[in-house]
Amino acid sequence: SLDVSTLTKQTGLTALDYGFVNTASTKSAITYIDGAQGILRYRGYPIEQIAEHSTFLETAWLLIYGELPSASELADFDDKIRRHTLLHEDLKKFFGALPHDAHPMSVLSAGVSALSTYYQGDLTSKDPEDIELATIRLLAKLPVMAAYAHKKSIGQAFLYPDNSLSFVDNFLKLNFGNMAEQYVPNPAVSRALERLLMLHEDHEQNASTSTVRLVGSTDANLFASVSAGIQALSGPLHGGANEAVLTMLAEIRDSGEGVARYVERVKNKEAGVKLMGFGHRVYKNYDPRAKLVKESAHEVLAALGVKDELLDIAMELEQIALEDDYFKSRRLYPNVDFYTGVIYKAMGFPTHMFTVLFAIGRLPGWIAHWREMNQDPQTKIGRPQQLYTGAPARDFPQR
Ligand code: ACO
Repeated sequence: SLDVSTLTKQTGLTALDYGFVNTASTKSAITYIDGAQGILRYRGYPIEQIAEHSTFLETAWLLIYGELPSASELADFDDKIRRHTLLHEDLKKFFGALPHDAHPMSVLSAGVSALSTYYQGDLTSKDPEDIELATIRLLAKLPVMAAYAHKKSIGQAFLYPDNSLSFVDNFLKLNFGNMAEQYVPNPAVSRALERLLMLHEDHEQNASTSTVRLVGSTDANLFASVSAGIQALSGPLHGGANEAVLTMLAEIRDSGEGVARYVERVKNKEAGVKLMGFGHRVYKNYDPRAKLVKESAHEVLAALGVKDELLDIAMELEQIALEDDYFKSRRLYPNVDFYTGVIYKAMGFPTHMFTVLFAIGRLPGWIAHWREMNQDPQTKIGRPQQLYTGAPARDFPQR
């Protein structure tokens, strides 16, 4: 069978496909999605089983290396990541140069670029050992940088990573611990965060992963590609939706207009009014991740003894939308972002950290795709065509 690039060369054919709705940019063996059935599998394993039985690092290994790790492989991976959590002391000054109200997604993306300057020697290398080291460094240091972005925004001192703790507990302590008291993570929060991170680990050729692959296709290094991926994720139509959902729910609560009235404004397509956290390019059925996140929302709020009116508003919105022809006919269902914000809020994260949590979750997927692309002999620099619609050739005025 002919692939599109061969066909294009043979026929001169160019397909115009806004948003790549029908165009595959690559083959991939990492993640399978059936949007009509609401199925998501990592390396063949159903997301529901991963969420119940795995951990963030085990799933990261699965995505990156293709199979589940043995117990000793996982222990070694975990140990390596713990040993690479420290940031160079000079790099901490980077945070000092930024305003306290900088958005943490900008801080994170710039931070990953800044981090890469400490490893210039290894960056362009295609040596598998150097790629392995870049993988470990990113997995170990991104959560630390994310927590420092949070601490910076609230004016608190940065803590050193505590390598006696698990990946998730270490991250929680870096965010919520302080110099004055001992921090003991709540097991319900740890497990819920682990589960949410796992649910975000990969989602095949979404906008940020495609960005990572496009940047990486130029032979740009893993840090540069991930830094670009973070920026792509920040948009409210992509990862930024989790922040936008909470803002929307709070606006509905504070305006007192009521959920039904808000839904009417969405249906009337009032400028800037959308049901954030609803709809998906691929899922035309309930997003399987959203089901799991919704369960977690109830569990976490119950475990923390938190009653949040925003969760009630979210459930009312979902109920109205699922029964409404506007949403039914367009097959719009809650996506992964619809309930995550309510959980992150209950955990104590400020709204502007929500998309950062998504980025930490998605990092293994970005790395897995970058590595898959690098190993694929068919990889070419990504370079879409265009259909030119501008002025015809004309002479520049003689002056
Ligand atoms: N609220 C109201 N109407 C919507 C919504 C929504 N959330 N999503 C889609 N629609 C409508 C569109 O207006 C369009 O209506 P029309 O046929 O009358 O023109 C129709 O549904 C089809 O929508 P498209 O925009 O063509 O769908 P597309 O696949 O391009 O966009 C997207 C998908 C960007 C996710 C969209 O559904 C959206 O903006 N959702 C809200 C933002 C969001 O939650 N993003 C997170 C996505 S998941 C993720 O990245 C983790």
